[in-house]
Amino acid sequence: MIGETGNPVTITGLGCNVPERVLSNDELAQFVDTSDEWIRERTGIRQRHMASKEEALSDVSLPAARRALEQAGSDGSDIDLLIVATVTPDMAFPSTAAILADRLGCTHAAAYDLAAGCTGFVYALAQGYGMVAAGLSKRALVVGGDLLSRILDWDDRSTLVLFGDGAGAVVLEAAPEQGFLGFELGADGAGGENLWLPGSGSRLFDDAERYVKMNGREVFKFATRVLVQSAEDIMERCGVTIDDVDVYVPHQANVRIIDHATKKLGVPSEKVVVNVDRYGNTSSGSIPLALADGVADGRIKPGALVLMTGMGAGLTWGSALMRWTT
Ligand code: ACO
Repeated sequence: MIGETGNPVTITGLGCNVPERVLSNDELAQFVDTSDEWIRERTGIRQRHMASKEEALSDVSLPAARRALEQAGSDGSDIDLLIVATVTPDMAFPSTAAILADRLGCTHAAAYDLAAGCTGFVYALAQGYGMVAAGLSKRALVVGGDLLSRILDWDDRSTLVLFGDGAGAVVLEAAPEQGFLGFELGADGAGGENLWLPGSGSRLFDDAERYVKMNGREVFKFATRVLVQSAEDIMERCGVTIDDVDVYVPHQANVRIIDHATKKLGVPSEKVVVNVDRYGNTSSGSIPLALADGVADGRIKPGALVLMTGMGAGLTWGSALMRWTT
């Protein structure tokens, strides 16, 4: 799916949150046969945050949502749509969106979860945009977050070292100036088994697997391909070139994947937001956490053209091109 946007909608609030506990590479080396050196060299990750046993996704997302609402000058009662992009909801139902809606006092909101792997936040942005642009929603809260530490196999070094827990949130509203220029979203279910959680739904397996399984090399090849293709497609569709882009916010999976996409696209490194070293891959939390870092370091400011591209389980990918207006 690809398209330029219609009625103007923008982000009016942004917030993010990670659990307090920081887990270093050396600590992980106590669980599996790995080393700080291997992890840094192959992924660029130095540390990640991990939720405590008491915390669920709604607990980690709540401060992020509150910060986004505060920046937008809204409170829960102003929100009429709440989408949570995640593959690690508190439970299958009620949705984490419904739980959050209750805790935020969103008494007039439609609330549901959306699953598109690590691309979930970009999918949810596109959906929120569509609802607000069509006039169905006046003020939407879009949350992206995951506690992947809950579904990792703590005996599998090939996946354990990559992921972290975290969440981010944005408020979307109709605006005089257009924020979103266009979206490109895609999925390739044929590659689904390269990154999957087989025993997590209605498909019955003889030997149900409750943990993430990944073919790292195939996901690496897929990621380097779609990050470039999706970005090029949306820029062409919206009539901009890479030189027009002020800030590039790729999914934070692996610094080598980001470097590859950055080189292929021809983005100078000073325009690229990278925080995978501090957070690991937080799945649906990755892009909003990186947006917040770009704002904090002054690169994402009013007028900046921001290109975001996510990719993940499904296999899925998605890009959003937006003019930052907040
Ligand atoms: N520590 C030490 N050694 C390790 C580790 C580890 N944590 N993991 C794997 N190895 C070993 C392997 O066993 C292998 O050993 P062998 O040569 O004796 O067989 C060796 O290191 C090299 O393994 P490769 O898989 O070739 O390593 P590669 O350089 O490809 O890096 C990695 C692996 C980091 C997983 C890479 O393939 C990658 O980043 N893939 C993409 C993963 C990704 O982004 N996933 C998230 C997608 S988004 C979502 O929706 C969740």
